Amino acid sequence: MNYQWYPGHMTKAKRMMQENIGLIDLVIELVDARVPLSSRNPDIDELGKNKSRLILLNKSDLADEKANSLWVDYFRTKGFHVIEVNARSGQGLRAINGAVKEVCREKIERDRKRGIVNRPVRAIVVGIPNVGKSTFINSYAGKACTKTGNKPGVTKGKQWIRMNKELELLDTPGILWPKFESEEVGKKLALIGSMNDEILQMTELATELLAYLIKYYRQLLADRYRIESLDDMDTPLKVLTHICEDRKCYRKGQEPDYEKASAIVMDDFRSGRMGRITLELPDGISANSGGIEERQNRGMAE
Ligand code: G4P
Repeated sequence: MNYQWYPGHMTKAKRMMQENIGLIDLVIELVDARVPLSSRNPDIDELGKNKSRLILLNKSDLADEKANSLWVDYFRTKGFHVIEVNARSGQGLRAINGAVKEVCREKIERDRKRGIVNRPVRAIVVGIPNVGKSTFINSYAGKACTKTGNKPGVTKGKQWIRMNKELELLDTPGILWPKFESEEVGKKLALIGSMNDEILQMTELATELLAYLIKYYRQLLADRYRIESLDDMDTPLKVLTHICEDRKCYRKGQEPDYEKASAIVMDDFRSGRMGRITLELPDGISANSGGIEERQNRGMAE
C-alpha cells in the first residue's frame, strides 16, 4: 500500500509553524498514545529548539494502560515532561497548569531577572492531523473564553486565549506533517485513521491489524467477536470469515463480504470498542499474547 501526504500540505504546514514558533515560549505537542513515536513529526525537535516543551499522550483512553505508563517513562527518560490525557473527556487536563509552570520555570525566572513580571507564557498546540488538537483546545480552553487580538476594529493579529494570568494559548493549532520514513510508520498511521481512507484498502488494513491482534491481543479479539476456540483463529482470513458468519456479512450468493467485515474491524478498533490497544512500544520492550513484557528485564534477546 502506498501511504502519503501531499507535498503542498507539508510546505504550508511547515511555513505556518515557522511563522508562529517565533511568537511562543512553549510547545504543547500532542501524540497519539496508540502510536506515540509514529505520530510524532521528525522535525519537531528542530522547530521547537530553545522552547519549553510539553508532550501530551492523547487518546490515552484508547491505548493499553500498561503501555501508556511505559511511554510516559520513555519520554521522561528523554528529558520531556509528559502527561497522559483524554482530550475528549477532559481527563488529565488538570495536571497541565502545574506542568506548564514547571517546564517554563527557567523562562519565568529569566523574565523576572530582567524585571519583566506578569508576562504570561505563550503556548502553541501542535501535532499531526487527527491527533486531537482541536478537541484539546476546546476542552482545555473551553472555560477560559477571554480572547485577545482580532477584535473588530483592533489590529489584525493572532488570537490568543487567556487561560489564566500565567498562560496564553494560540487558538489555532500548528499542524505537523506526519512522518513517512518507513512503510511501517505509514501503516500504523493508516490503522489509527490519520490518513484519508478513500485511498486505502480497508481489507488490507484490517488484515494487518488482525495479524497484530492475533499475536498480541487475542483475548480482546475473542471477546469482541465471540470466538470460542482461539486456537483455530490463527490467521486474519479465518477471523474475517468468522466475523462474516457472526455478523451475517454476505454478498449475493452467500459469498462472505470481507470488505464489510474489514470495515467493522477497523471501526471497532478506532472507536475503542475492541478494547484498549497500543500498536507500538518503546525499544527493548515487546508485547506478547499475555500482555506486555520487558524483554530486557527478563534477559531475552530482541
Ligand atoms: P485534530 O484537530 O488534531 O485534527 O483532531 P480533532 O480534534 O479533530 O480530533 C480527531 C478525532 O479524535 C475526533 O473524533 C475527536 O473527538 C477524537 N479525539 C480527540 N481526542 C481524543 C481522546 O483523547 N480520546 C478519544 N477517544 N478520541 C479523541 P471524530 O470522530 O473525528 O469526531 P467526533 O465524532 O468526536 O466529533
